[in-house]
Amino acid sequence: MKFGHFDDQAREYVITTPRTPLPWINYLGNQDFFTLISNTCGGYTFYKDAKLLRLTRYRYNNVPYDNNGKYFYIKDGETVWNPGWQPVKTDLDEYECRHGLGYSVFHGKKNGVSADITSLVPMGDTCELSRLTVKNESGAAKKLSVFSYVEWCLWNADDDMKNFQRNLSTGEMELELPEALAGNAAFKGRPWVFAGDADRTTIYHKTEYRERRNHVAVYSVNAAADAVDTSRDAFLGAYNGPDHPDAVFGSGCTNSVASGWSPVASHEFDVELAAGEEKTWVFVLAYVENPDDDKWAPGTTPSEGIVNKKNAHALLAKYKTSADVDKAMETLKSYWEELLSCYHVESSSEELNRMANIWNQYQCMVTFNMSRSASYYESGIGRGMGFRDSCQDLLGFVHLIPDRARERIIDIASTQFQDGSAYHQYQPLTKKGNSDIGSGFNDDPLWLIAGTSAYIRESGDATILDEIVPFDNDMSVAKPLMEHLKRSFDYIVNHKGPHALPLIGRADWNDCLNLNCFSEHPGESFQTFGPSEGPVAESVFIAGMFVKYGEEYAKLCELKGDTAEAARAREEVKKMNAAILKDGWDGEWFVRAYDAHGAKVGSKECREGQIFIEPQGFCVLAGVGVEEGLAEKALASVKEKLDTKYGIMILQPAYTEYHLELGEVSSYPPGYKENAGIFCHNNPWVSIAETVLGHGDRAFEIYKKTCPAFIEDISEIHCTEPYVYSQMVAGADAHFFGQGKNSWLTGTAAWTFVNVSQYILGLYPTLSGLSVDPCVPGNFGDFKLTRKYRGVTYHIEVKTNGSQKGVKKMTVDGAAVEGNVIPFDASKKDVQVVVEM
Ligand code: BGC
Ligand code: NOJ
Repeated sequence: MKFGHFDDQAREYVITTPRTPLPWINYLGNQDFFTLISNTCGGYTFYKDAKLLRLTRYRYNNVPYDNNGKYFYIKDGETVWNPGWQPVKTDLDEYECRHGLGYSVFHGKKNGVSADITSLVPMGDTCELSRLTVKNESGAAKKLSVFSYVEWCLWNADDDMKNFQRNLSTGEMELELPEALAGNAAFKGRPWVFAGDADRTTIYHKTEYRERRNHVAVYSVNAAADAVDTSRDAFLGAYNGPDHPDAVFGSGCTNSVASGWSPVASHEFDVELAAGEEKTWVFVLAYVENPDDDKWAPGTTPSEGIVNKKNAHALLAKYKTSADVDKAMETLKSYWEELLSCYHVESSSEELNRMANIWNQYQCMVTFNMSRSASYYESGIGRGMGFRDSCQDLLGFVHLIPDRARERIIDIASTQFQDGSAYHQYQPLTKKGNSDIGSGFNDDPLWLIAGTSAYIRESGDATILDEIVPFDNDMSVAKPLMEHLKRSFDYIVNHKGPHALPLIGRADWNDCLNLNCFSEHPGESFQTFGPSEGPVAESVFIAGMFVKYGEEYAKLCELKGDTAEAARAREEVKKMNAAILKDGWDGEWFVRAYDAHGAKVGSKECREGQIFIEPQGFCVLAGVGVEEGLAEKALASVKEKLDTKYGIMILQPAYTEYHLELGEVSSYPPGYKENAGIFCHNNPWVSIAETVLGHGDRAFEIYKKTCPAFIEDISEIHCTEPYVYSQMVAGADAHFFGQGKNSWLTGTAAWTFVNVSQYILGLYPTLSGLSVDPCVPGNFGDFKLTRKYRGVTYHIEVKTNGSQKGVKKMTVDGAAVEGNVIPFDASKKDVQVVVEM
């Protein structure tokens, strides 16, 4: 069953009922200011950091699921409704939500009145615009009241939820109102209520501004409101939620000024609309900073506490009219048009085209901005930027914004330790490593090589390797990035176990395989409990990674002219390859790991968890066991033992008991998450591995199973958004087999894009240029690609001739070339390539 449809022309997903199985969300914002927005107008807003600079409040894990947002209420006689249906949930006569790239639009209609909202974060500014148009289509005059509503968060979202003794007393507001309203009796004797422009009503949330903050939040509208509220208790009533505000259901806003407790912002407009008449408001929700020495209104003292509004006024002046919103929307759309023109495919598969051209790349950009911090499944307070996560995300967006990828690599590398290990996470605002989680995840160092290599292969910019980068943010011990990569590489070389395989530490990619943890008490974090380092437990997955990224490291050494180091690296890779073949092979598939007692994990010797997906995918894509025929066997075992109609499960048989020696992996009920769920992230590894072996049919079959556009028809089973990937789909052991969870912020986005663009469609950036080596199903037909690369636009036509893999002939601007790497020539702007398979 579907709950909407794709509009490929507009690059939108159109949701036609608010009753989606889960909130289906979108992200607004590209640089510093972000909003999460659901199909019922739920969500929240933050500046740079979802934990430390949260503007609006959100209640996680509450009922209903999606329960606070940027709401508009329309009161029409006895009927109160919201254009996005929530929170009042009055049945609407018409409803539509269109999630586009960086914007969302909503349409609701009730009793002859329509309301349309356009929400976006304009490029380059730290605010969100919501344009609301209310139209009377009823044929007779109507009196309506329209209300806005947001609830402020007291900035630090973590503290906001905990420190009530303080927080219920710190809230402070300032109001700048049209003169008539400012004179209202309710404001008599209240400080910080001022008369301002006649056609603007602005509410300032200035909690903590009196002390160490240099910023305020603003909710403003380009019109004279009839009334406002800024105290939650006044607006909602102490015993109501946003589904039944006293002000809306009763006799309107009461011009409350919050002082402590819970500040909110609501504007009320009482309008009379003739038949056919409409009215439009432009609301601006903004983050405004003032320099420390210019915090206070000119001519006032700090103890008067009056905010300097110069910067706020300048920002608001940019968004005064509906035309200003149109202009911001055009700029946003051309930004995306330009970005997405970097990669475009036209193939026989409509679903593939729409995912590869639009949604998959869009999701990659969102993971770039959010890492794993803020989604409807990540609270924004728990984790910042993940070291391994952000390095992998980079693989999916580096072709779109190489400059920002460069910056990101430097930020990430700055949280590495001198021995090559790294903080597992860092905070986006401070860019400092997070010591709560610390280090000890032994795959982390290698992902830095993966990300850096991807950046250089894309951009050709090897100067990044000479960039001086601190260790643990300490400039006094800074070294060139190349040295960071060497330490990454050597960390693995220097941390091997009894089988000459890499030690796993706290965990590798699979955060839940905690082989040194031995946790016996509820509540202990599997990720941080126990010793971070054990001398015995080893990971075959990291070994596969080492073979793959060790070779990429060697290539970078060559690029720098260091052939001796390249040779040394290849020697180490060779040893690792041999160790995998000797002790990492189980007969029919690759072993997953050795536990702290030296026993195999992911072996036929085990009662449960006999086969894991990760080493099969990664070892084969790294080329391990290909010559020996083991790769074929491993992938056949994956198909036989792990495959389902909804994707490939992470392991089988599922753990039915808690295994002290394995940690969190066995703590999940069978079929969920790392315990035999379909972890979407490593499905593309297997698909890529299939392309390495030339199995185009199978690679594409795997691609399709988890690809959201291909499973749109079963949205009632899948439940999460049909336009983005989820981290996990429940496996065959789970009661809700096929159900998605944790959508949006997952490495799946980057890896599926790498898979479809670089391996299936086969355009892989090498250090010397683009190589073309597609691996497609036999019946895929011909396809065309447009790819911008290092300033050149390539127009590539692939004639498959029914073949799954193997380029027979390639011409570049009409001339036949040897091999399948397009010779790079920076002097050309457009290059025509024809490929025959
Ligand atoms: C989840 C993992 C996640 C880890 C770290 C675990 O509970 O299952 O997917 O990586 O926590 O936050
Ligand atoms: C989610 C985490 O963000 C990621 O780092 C990890 O690799 C996967 N879970 C698998 O455990």
